[in-house]
Amino acid sequence: MVKVVLIGTGNVAKFLFDVFSEHPQISLVQVVGRKLEALNYFKEKTAVTQDYRSLKDADIYILAVKDEAILAVSQELMLQDRLLVHTSGSISMEALPENARRGVFYPLQTFSGVPIKNKENIPFCVEAENEEDYTFLEDLAKCISNSVHRVSSEKRKQLHLAAVFANNFTNHMYFLASDICAEHEVPFELLKPLIRETYEKIMHQTPLDAQTGPARRNDLKTLQEHLLLLKDNKQKKVYTTLSESIQESYGEKL
Ligand SMILES: NC(=O)c1ccc[n+]([C@@H]2O[C@H](COP(=O)([O-])OP(=O)(O)OC[C@H]3O[C@@H](n4cnc5c(N)ncnc54)[C@H](OP(=O)(O)O)[C@@H]3O)[C@@H](O)[C@H]2O)c1
Repeated sequence: MVKVVLIGTGNVAKFLFDVFSEHPQISLVQVVGRKLEALNYFKEKTAVTQDYRSLKDADIYILAVKDEAILAVSQELMLQDRLLVHTSGSISMEALPENARRGVFYPLQTFSGVPIKNKENIPFCVEAENEEDYTFLEDLAKCISNSVHRVSSEKRKQLHLAAVFANNFTNHMYFLASDICAEHEVPFELLKPLIRETYEKIMHQTPLDAQTGPARRNDLKTLQEHLLLLKDNKQKKVYTTLSESIQESYGEKL
């Protein structure tokens, strides 16, 4: 039986709590969080505490707090010679205190409180200071995922950066699109089959081959018309930057 303590009560902590709870070989012995009401989610199934110094004995301590809080919270924990991992894409393993056995347990997925489909396909990027801990983390990740990878802090940061383009920026594009729809009273709903097809296509085609649209076709007339239609300067800037990037990717210049 692997004993786990989770520190943090947000989206990633809840996700890990739910998937670990389903596994017979994993025992979630405690969840630690600074807000009592946030601990409600966990308290029926495990021990909870707000005190970072009253940690139960465990094989692994998983720190799933905001990136900016990782350093401060990890220093409070006093986990001398215990295995302590964080779940961040962008923070080095070395950011954790030297007196713990350090590692990283990064799920490459977006968690925002809605249930995730195909949880077992979520890639886990794992790293540890020593080989024994690495094997332990790899085995733990394999209990909940069939996509487990040894990734260094350096490479993980690059993956996280790529994920920002693939997910965060794409989602922001949906937001800008929904703004344009709302402003001109056309239903955003009508774009959903297009959004779905864009996603489906990328499963079978390279992004370079899948690109369509006026910038890809170097259709200067439509590009100019679109810029005239946009009244908002931020939208114009985004439109121009992305169109230039697309054109340059296909050897064209605006
Ligand atoms: N969300 C994702 O898509 C995703 C994906 C992969 C990895 N990650 C990584 O997973 C980690 C947790 O992310 P999350 O999405 O679960 O965040 P979240 O939902 O915003 O939850 C953040 C947690 O950190 C706690 N926290 C924030 N500031 C704190 C502080 N100063 N001191 C102590 N606790 C503090 C929060 O407590 P309060 O409720 O009391 O504020 C909450 O429990 C981060 O390292 C993030 O980069 C996130």
